[in-house]
Amino acid sequence: MAPLSAADTGSTRTLLLAIESSCDETAAAVIDRDRRVRSSVVATQTELHAEFGGVVPEIASRAHLERILPVVDKALRDAGCQPADIGAIAVATTPGLVGSLLVGLTAAKTLAWVWDVPLIAVDHLHAHLYACRMAAGHDVCPAVGFVVSGGHTNLYDWSSINELRLLGSTIDDAAGEAFDKVAQILGLGFPGGPALAHAAQAGRPDAFDFPRTFLHEPRLEFSFSGLKTAVLYAAKGIPGARVQPPPLSPERVADLAASFQQAVVDVLIAKIRLAIEQTGYRRVCLGGGVVANQAFREALTRFGQRHRIEIHVAPWELCTDNAAMHALGWELWERGITAPLDLDVLPGLVRAARS
Ligand code: KG4
Ligand code: ZN
Repeated sequence: MAPLSAADTGSTRTLLLAIESSCDETAAAVIDRDRRVRSSVVATQTELHAEFGGVVPEIASRAHLERILPVVDKALRDAGCQPADIGAIAVATTPGLVGSLLVGLTAAKTLAWVWDVPLIAVDHLHAHLYACRMAAGHDVCPAVGFVVSGGHTNLYDWSSINELRLLGSTIDDAAGEAFDKVAQILGLGFPGGPALAHAAQAGRPDAFDFPRTFLHEPRLEFSFSGLKTAVLYAAKGIPGARVQPPPLSPERVADLAASFQQAVVDVLIAKIRLAIEQTGYRRVCLGGGVVANQAFREALTRFGQRHRIEIHVAPWELCTDNAAMHALGWELWERGITAPLDLDVLPGLVRAARS
């Protein structure tokens, strides 16, 4: 027999508890049937990973373990609710770091079992896009979906709310990863995206002519490793070369940051345009940490106005990792799509087949 959905039960357990632990944020949220976020708690681990210049998986999973229950507890208290008000638990099970995902899933399974409520498995990337649906307050499909984060640069055919088809992705670094690595090269700290964007404000976007890989090629793929190397050589010189670049002054750092950022933005916009041509959709929904980038948001607005394309960007607070965007779980719960308690995580990256 199909499990009862929220709509069928007439239960007083009308709230969804959402848990997120796929990378380096431990997060929980309580969301009601109208997708209103009653509480959203995010415990970031930035300070734990900063000295290593990137997320250390073992440190991440240990920190999740310490934080997961206090974070869930705070989410319930902030929402002013009791365990008895929770009718289902949504948790991100893919993609992400295996140890990190397992902490969230184990907590979610345990609470689902103890409270005798259904478990709902959420795709973290789908949830990043769903943040656009939450902000819009109405259906935003069909649309080109674009997740631009630290781990992914994925373009989708988002035909209906629960149907996503990967159109293309990166063959090496993700866009956010490139921001992080270039910020490290320029000595701007971790996480690099916001620091680099800040430095870029004082720089000239045309100071350096950096490569824009696949810009004019009719393929929905990305590659940012050549760009990263170009910035490295411009900043620190080519190993063994006779002529070396001048020292990294604040002005030079700003110019390098602004030129790098412009190259990334140009490629992202060009591929959105290609995805629109291929799908015939007139709407784009974007989520993920890099969508918090101001230069990218401004370029998106200009692009949308020029080509009369409807652009939906995730609100700032829902761009980087959080559990509120797992309101997506409601779409599954309402359709009776729940998960068994022997569910496993699926950590791997999913890449589009190469054409
Ligand atoms: O979505 P997210 O929180 O985590 C993943 O699922 O990966 O994205 C984090 C990424 C990091 O690479 C971070 O540097 C980048 O998003 N990011 C930014 C900005 N804010 C965060 N990149 C560019 N500009 C920003 N303002
Ligand atoms: Zn994410």
